[in-house]
Amino acid sequence: MAGTEFEFSDQDFQRVRRIINQVAGISLADGKRELVYSRLSRRLRQYGFRRFVDYCDLLETGNDEAELREFVNALTTNLTSFFREPHHFEFLAGELLPSLIRARGSSNRRIRVWSAGCSTGEEPYSIAIVLRETLPATGWDIKILATDLDSNVLATAERGVYEWNRVKDLSESRLRRWFHKGRNAQAGWVRVAPALRDLITFRQLNLMDDWPMRGPFDLIFCRNVVIYFDKATQQILFERYADILIEQGHLFVGHSESLFKVTERFTPLGKTIYQRCR
Ligand SMILES: C[S@@+](CC[C@H](N)C(=O)[O-])C[C@H]1O[C@@H](n2cnc3c(N)ncnc32)[C@H](O)[C@@H]1O
Repeated sequence: MAGTEFEFSDQDFQRVRRIINQVAGISLADGKRELVYSRLSRRLRQYGFRRFVDYCDLLETGNDEAELREFVNALTTNLTSFFREPHHFEFLAGELLPSLIRARGSSNRRIRVWSAGCSTGEEPYSIAIVLRETLPATGWDIKILATDLDSNVLATAERGVYEWNRVKDLSESRLRRWFHKGRNAQAGWVRVAPALRDLITFRQLNLMDDWPMRGPFDLIFCRNVVIYFDKATQQILFERYADILIEQGHLFVGHSESLFKVTERFTPLGKTIYQRCR
């Protein structure tokens, strides 16, 4: 049962679902009623509202872009970790990058990667680690674009400072090479090395909007993002990913996501890795 502090009718829940779908393409399942109540309670308190209907009115008629952003931030799920779904990074280091290095020879030593829905940054930093470790130290032009809709998580990503707990399972050599341990007031925290930070551009971007970049990208990571989108939205998005990837570029999706019956522009390579085929 949702709490009793605020009046929250079925109609209000449907309204919240409609707004988040319009703004972010996110489809909230029936079972998310309690989640909506608890995540948005803080927003209602902020305005002194007692009823969700007033908050929905504010969102729909208030012309308040900042509040719309807070609303979206409150409802997105930002769970992530370094080297989440490690098979993707093993494939990248063991197969994809070695064959790219061979194929590119001495010309076109350039790689463009997009981490779409990067949350607090662990994904793009993990990609940066593998690129730095696998590509020759000099002569390669490497850029990673990391985007998210949620401005709060993006600020954390840009800062590149993490609690020790979040990196403690990385190998000793990776920790030494890619992270600086904080001291004194910063004890218990690590900062990512500038050599990683320098590869990444962080930008706020709603995947539903027009994309300001032209690409093309060699690789796109869009993992554990489309799980919240309905099928029609997924179809449009994967079509756009195919358009902005190079021919035979790779797309990595999350463990419970699939392109099966969604698009035919990609060939599955297994383990939620896809290659553009048309
Ligand atoms: C569960 S996290 C996944 C993070 C990372 N990709 C991973 O797999 O570890 C999903 C992220 O997608 C973002 N997101 C959701 N809807 C979005 C949209 N319409 N445009 C851009 N990002 C969105 C959320 O803000 C959230 O940070």
